Amino acid sequence: MSKTQIRSILKLIDSFGDEHVLRTTPGASILEIAVENSVEIHHSCGGMGSCGTCRIRLTAVCGSAPERSEIESEMAQDRGFEADERLSCQVIFPDEDVDWTAEALDREP
Ligand code: FES
Repeated sequence: MSKTQIRSILKLIDSFGDEHVLRTTPGASILEIAVENSVEIHHSCGGMGSCGTCRIRLTAVCGSAPERSEIESEMAQDRGFEADERLSCQVIFPDEDVDWTAEALDREP
């Protein structure tokens, strides 16, 4: 029996304000999907969850967004993130279909 194929979509507005529609992979972070597709989101610490430059606003159009990791929760509390502000390096695509929209908040001037 074949495994059901996951067909998740990410609409991503990058650091320049350009919009991209990307296929995703379960287990990958939003930042990893962006980098794989050469879509610019700032990420000074390389995805370690320590710089905050990969901050996005995440809207779960279909499928719920995962809970914050411990490292993300600490930064969100320290910096006063709003409920839909997330670190793109810490948001991992689940093993189910989702349809998310994310907007980079660390924009080029
Ligand atoms: S890349 Fe530094 S916190 Fe995400």
